[in-house]
Amino acid sequence: LIEIRELYKNQEAYLDKEITVGGWVRSIRDSKAFGFIVINDGTFFTPLQVVYHDDMENFEEISKLNVGAAVVVTGTLVATPQAKQPFEIQAKTVTVEGASAPDYPLQKKRHSFEYLRTIAHLRPRTNTFQAVFRVRSLTAYALHKFFQERGFVYVHTPIITGSDCEGAGEMFRVTTMDMGNVPKTENGAVDYTQDFFGKETSLTVSGQLNAETYAQAFGNVYTFGPTFRAENSNTTRHAAEFWMLEPEMAFADLEDDMDLAEDMLKYVINYVMENAPEEMKFFNSFVDKGLINRLTNVATSEFARITYTDAIEILKKHNDKFEFKVSWGIDLQTEHERYLTEEVYKRPVFVTDYPKDIKAFYMKQNPDGKTVAAVDCLVPGIGEIIGGSQREDDYEKLATRMEELGMKTEDYGFYMDLRKYGSTRHAGFGLGFERCIMYLTGMGNIRDVIPFPRTVNNCEL
Ligand code: 4AD
Ligand code: MG
Repeated sequence: LIEIRELYKNQEAYLDKEITVGGWVRSIRDSKAFGFIVINDGTFFTPLQVVYHDDMENFEEISKLNVGAAVVVTGTLVATPQAKQPFEIQAKTVTVEGASAPDYPLQKKRHSFEYLRTIAHLRPRTNTFQAVFRVRSLTAYALHKFFQERGFVYVHTPIITGSDCEGAGEMFRVTTMDMGNVPKTENGAVDYTQDFFGKETSLTVSGQLNAETYAQAFGNVYTFGPTFRAENSNTTRHAAEFWMLEPEMAFADLEDDMDLAEDMLKYVINYVMENAPEEMKFFNSFVDKGLINRLTNVATSEFARITYTDAIEILKKHNDKFEFKVSWGIDLQTEHERYLTEEVYKRPVFVTDYPKDIKAFYMKQNPDGKTVAAVDCLVPGIGEIIGGSQREDDYEKLATRMEELGMKTEDYGFYMDLRKYGSTRHAGFGLGFERCIMYLTGMGNIRDVIPFPRTVNNCEL
């Protein structure tokens, strides 16, 4: 079979030649003596039109096909200069590989994203989701390419963990299914706190703590994988299972961290615009008008950088616009983040040096005693897309902070060791991969950029 992508990329090589393609029927239209089938094989955004005639022995069978059927077509590729698409295939044979039932849920009309979420197994056959998931795949590749080109070592950090990186207690507990081996409490009930062969474990919320250990061996590393948060929030930007990309650099501070984040975002924007032009044009026309313009501007201008304290001063002046009123010490809400990036700066913004009480235990304490060397990157349309920090590299300061927060340093022996054996200044961040895809595509709901979303009340397939 020849991929439709290949036909579009190298059409001269195939014009007026006999070729065979396989795909799924997008639409079908028949007259008395001939008909048209539009098929897509998933390799290219633009589909292929097939023309078939009544001289075929299975003409009847073809004419009765329903949308969604799988067919293999052999015929000649001919140029169609007057039509929208550059060519079509004049079929010699159309073999029906798998018919489709008449109740196929995807018809030619536009379906709402809400409806398509209920058929997450079929929605990748629609234009929008073909575009979203091709861009998602390309973006993952672009991120790897960016870090590999810069010599970062890819570390596979564990999914099952005994530590709570963010200290927010939003973790999914791991329980054992080996019922012969279930830990029991004294009264014989299942002891769910002792479930990983006698230890309490959870699904990771971040690979950072593990990545830090490898940064203290390799210098620059990154991890990229699924992370889990048991936050019961039903928003368009939160999922219980999402992917996070986390670089970590030794001998680096917060400025280096922001430089890396900015370079990375610009790189993936350029990569996707160059390598998925059809998809990006589609988003620009049907999902978010102005997307390409905006991304082009972002790729060529500097991100803003302000401190949390300055951001609060700016936001306080607009308190009448906010549901949640602003004062020093609050955690920025989405409405504040979006106001800063959409109204004040109209481009991505790094906000740095947050109050220590609203940030995680591991962040480097600033000399002012009140703030930590944290950074969030906010982008228009979404808000926070990246969260990062310089890490506390001083053993005593870290231990004191952990005690203040009621954490036991014994539980984090490996982490404390890094501050004992050749501690360096180091920094890193986490990019929410789905939020990045939302940003690149203009899609407005996290459920529409992850193949099988896991959100509250959503785990059917
Ligand atoms: O800001 P967060 O919680 O940072 C960390 O986890 C650090 N340990 C990262 C690091 O420094 N290595 O999460 C990082 C990013 C957020 O900015 C957001 O984009 C995304 O992860 N994120 C979520 N995305 C979807 N659903 C959720 N529930 C998310 N929670 C965080
Ligand atoms: Mg954060």
